[in-house]
Amino acid sequence: MPHPIETDTIKIAVLGAAGGIGQSLSLLLKTQLTSFSNNRHVHLALYDVNADGVRGVAADLSHVDTPITLTSHSPADSADALRDCLINAALVLIPAGVPRKPGMTREDLFAINAKIVGQLGGAIAQHCDLSRVFVLVISNPVNSLVPVMVETLYASAPAASAGVERRVFGITHLDLVRASTFLHEHTVNRTEPSYKMPYVPVIGGHSGDTIVPLFSLASEQQYIAQQQLESLVHRVQYGGDEIVKAKNGQGSATLSMAHAAFQVVKNFVLLLTGAADTISGIFYVSLLDRAGQPACPGAAKLLAQIDGCTYFAAPVTVTRSQGVVDVDYGILGKISTYEREKLLPLCLPKLKTSIEAGRTVGTTV
Ligand code: NAD
Ligand code: LMR
Repeated sequence: MPHPIETDTIKIAVLGAAGGIGQSLSLLLKTQLTSFSNNRHVHLALYDVNADGVRGVAADLSHVDTPITLTSHSPADSADALRDCLINAALVLIPAGVPRKPGMTREDLFAINAKIVGQLGGAIAQHCDLSRVFVLVISNPVNSLVPVMVETLYASAPAASAGVERRVFGITHLDLVRASTFLHEHTVNRTEPSYKMPYVPVIGGHSGDTIVPLFSLASEQQYIAQQQLESLVHRVQYGGDEIVKAKNGQGSATLSMAHAAFQVVKNFVLLLTGAADTISGIFYVSLLDRAGQPACPGAAKLLAQIDGCTYFAAPVTVTRSQGVVDVDYGILGKISTYEREKLLPLCLPKLKTSIEAGRTVGTTV
């Protein structure tokens, strides 16, 4: 399904587009993105190893009446499928990989999904302009696969990857979506107006104890007693398990994840079109550059407060040309004693182990 790409087109590559997240996210992109594209042409390049799946998704979405165009790419259709999908992409979204089944942790997906993400990272290094592209990693375990992606880009494009760690983002936004939803459920009859959704920052990583919801920073926090707080925190940390259990072997969160990813992608599109000079949000990012120096101004101060964890989901500021330009280390100065003394100490050692696993695999690509 070839399609000419205009030079001012914003090309978005979706790798794993035939999957549960890939399909729902592609639908949201095709139906909703025009409102955020500032009159720029958007093209969706859909890639999957499931050839029938991705052909079908692209054909189906091509009947949706928006000006966003699509192409389908699969290795069964062309040896250059991945190159054709990635070339000139400004944004690469990666929901490619295997989801959990009941009884599994996200870490159990590491071996298989690290291979997939490592292979895709090698292709991104080869075909994308690393000084321009943004890479958003959705596949699990995010805590390890973002280091895999960053190290793969370094190893595969030694001359072109300076600063690329500032352009690779682990997508943990579903944790914020859940925290907001669960707090809203909890407070709905106690606060006015009940149609306003709370904002709850969630930092750390994206797996169990590494997920650190900061309910103390929500304006509704006065409605939460300590015992309720602990169960809200636990529900956010293990919210993914609720879906895995309900789907009973048919996968994990796809619809809520597509919603969360869309919220993120639309902001990146605003940045890419120039409608926004900077965007901010909580992303799982590298705090060190390739030389082992702090990757951005706030990184050194954040590292000092998180026991040297070299990747962390924290509020960051992003520009189109530089990627992450700052991280808000000050957020840790505002959190409650419970969050600082109970939640962070459980998060940090587990996060470090996952980061190390990812860095080790990534450097051997
Ligand atoms: P899925 O199995 O429905 O879809 C995955 C797709 O990836 C499939 O279509 C498959 O063919 C494709 N794929 C596999 N190997 C590939 C490769 N080498 N290149 C391109 N495509 C490839 O799974 P899903 O439910 O969409 O979940 C995808 C991933 O996202 C899982 O790892 C899951 O754990 C993760 N996830 C992350 C979050 C988060 O908050 N970050 C939330 C939900 C799910
Ligand atoms: C989630 O949080 O729903 C995802 O990370 C998928 C999972 O495995 O739980």
